[in-house]
Amino acid sequence: MKSIKIFAPATVANLSCGFDVLGCCLDNVGDEMIISLVSEPGITITKIEGADLPLETHKNVAGVAVEALLSKYIKEIGVEIEIYKKIKAGSGIGSSAASSAGAVWAVNHLLDNPFTPQELVEFAMEGEKLASGNAHADNVAPALLGGFTLVRSYQPLDVIKLNSPEDLVMTVIHPQIEVKTSDSRSVIKHNVSLKQAIHQWGNVGGLVAGLFTEDYDLIGRSLEDVIIEPLRSILIPEFENVKQAAIAKGALGCGISGSGPSIFALSKGMNTANEVAEDIRKVYAKTGLDFDIHVSKINSQGIKIID
Ligand code: HSE
Repeated sequence: MKSIKIFAPATVANLSCGFDVLGCCLDNVGDEMIISLVSEPGITITKIEGADLPLETHKNVAGVAVEALLSKYIKEIGVEIEIYKKIKAGSGIGSSAASSAGAVWAVNHLLDNPFTPQELVEFAMEGEKLASGNAHADNVAPALLGGFTLVRSYQPLDVIKLNSPEDLVMTVIHPQIEVKTSDSRSVIKHNVSLKQAIHQWGNVGGLVAGLFTEDYDLIGRSLEDVIIEPLRSILIPEFENVKQAAIAKGALGCGISGSGPSIFALSKGMNTANEVAEDIRKVYAKTGLDFDIHVSKINSQGIKIID
């Protein structure tokens, strides 16, 4: 039996302007998993701690992602999966993505890497399809590749790893209310005006350029969403006040993390990110809602072996 223990990171998808195409990987927020190759063929989820999730392979995002991988592997093998959830489901920081990306990354590693990172993204997307009804890649790609990623195309899948400027730090506030990705996707309009599209793709280009040239002001100017945020932000208590507080404290930009309810603020430097955390904590303290705040550097490696 071969076995590894991994850290499967949380991720922030969309990054305001890049709905379903942009995402980045966090450093100190994530799940742990133990994945083993065993002699008995088949996939077994032996343990889940920290969340009430199904053990049945075909109902579990890690299970279906590994099923997708094994369907493309020549030999029959057995896989056992233990999941220690630290990222809450429905938090908007890639809980399902961490499990599906972590599982396929670990199995690939144990098999001596027969699949490319891009192929792993495709397998992990099966987990996202099960979780939200939509096979989006903007959480699984940064979990698997690390740093910032762009899904240039879904058909065929073309995922690009972007540059990750050293000084960027994320502050994420997670109000303890669950917003299911499927519900949050149902409020989105399927048609956008040309005017909105021009605004949005200008920002996507600006953000990608800003990441590569390490132009922090350009990154900040580009963290703007005129299409999705106006529709989804009404589901998140105090969204506008959090955003105002983060920007007033010097954050480069602030928006909804993935499908919410988490809100992210991206700052230059740890001091600013910590100060942003303090001020948004004050905003949320008044609501009476429970919440968590994370301050994290960008994890340019992605999933890691631990212990
Ligand atoms: N792009 C997806 C969405 C991410 O916004 O629905 C879900 O975390």
